Amino acid sequence: MPDALPVITIDGPSGSGKGTVTQRVAAQLGWRVLDSGALYRLVGFAVDQRAIGFEDENKISKIAEELDVEFKDGKIFLDGREVTDLIRTEGAGNNASKVAAMPGVRAALLDWQRGYAQPPGLVADGRDMGTTVFPTAGVKIFLTASAAERAQRRYKQLKEKGLPANLAALTTEIEERDARDRSRAASPLVPAADAIVIDSTALSIEDVVETVLQNARRVYPATS
Ligand code: C5P
Repeated sequence: MPDALPVITIDGPSGSGKGTVTQRVAAQLGWRVLDSGALYRLVGFAVDQRAIGFEDENKISKIAEELDVEFKDGKIFLDGREVTDLIRTEGAGNNASKVAAMPGVRAALLDWQRGYAQPPGLVADGRDMGTTVFPTAGVKIFLTASAAERAQRRYKQLKEKGLPANLAALTTEIEERDARDRSRAASPLVPAADAIVIDSTALSIEDVVETVLQNARRVYPATS
C-alpha cells in the first residue's frame, strides 16, 4: 500500500527530462515540487564561493546543515543573494555532484527534503528520491535517455537561457557526472527495485508526462 500522502518520485541522470516532466505533472495534479538537485547545487555553489576546496567533508556537511536559502516567486536566494541562474551552469552541476558524493551532506539534506511531502501531494525530482528519500512513494519513475540525446537537450536549454554552451564539452561533462553519480557509495544513481523505467530518447515530453499521470491515477485514484 502506498503512503496516505501521495508522492511521485522521478529519478534519473542529468538531461533525461526529469525537471520538465516533474513541473508538468505537478502542475496537472496541483501538487508541490521538490527539485532536490537545486539543494545539492546550492551546497556546491556555497563551497565554491567560500573557496575552501572540495575535500573537507566535515566542513562541507556543516555548510549544508546551515545553508541560508530562500525560495521566493520562482527565484532562489543564498545568503540573501539571488543565485537562480548561477546554480544552473554545468560547473555548478559538477560541483553539486562532488558534494553529493559525501554522506554527511546527504544526511544534512534528508529531513529538509522529506519536509516537502505535504498535502495534496508531492512530485520529487532527483537521483535517490525513490530509493532513499521517499522509499514508500506510490509511483516511482526512473527516466533515462542516451548520453548524446541528453547532451543535445542540455545544450538547447542553456542556449535558450542565453548561457554559454559547447556540445562536445557538455557530452564529456554529462558522462563524467553520470559516472560519478552512478559509482558513489552513498545513494548512487540506480532505479529503485519497484521503479518504472522509461527511456525517453525517442519519446516526446508529452508522452512521458502522460505515462506518469496514468500511473498516478492508477495508484492514487482520488487524483484529478
Ligand atoms: O538534477 P541536477 O542536475 O540539478 O543535480 C545536480 C547534481 O546533484 C547531480 O549530478 C547529482 O550529483 C546531485 N544530486 C544527487 N541527488 C539528488 C539530486 C541531485 O546526488 N537527489
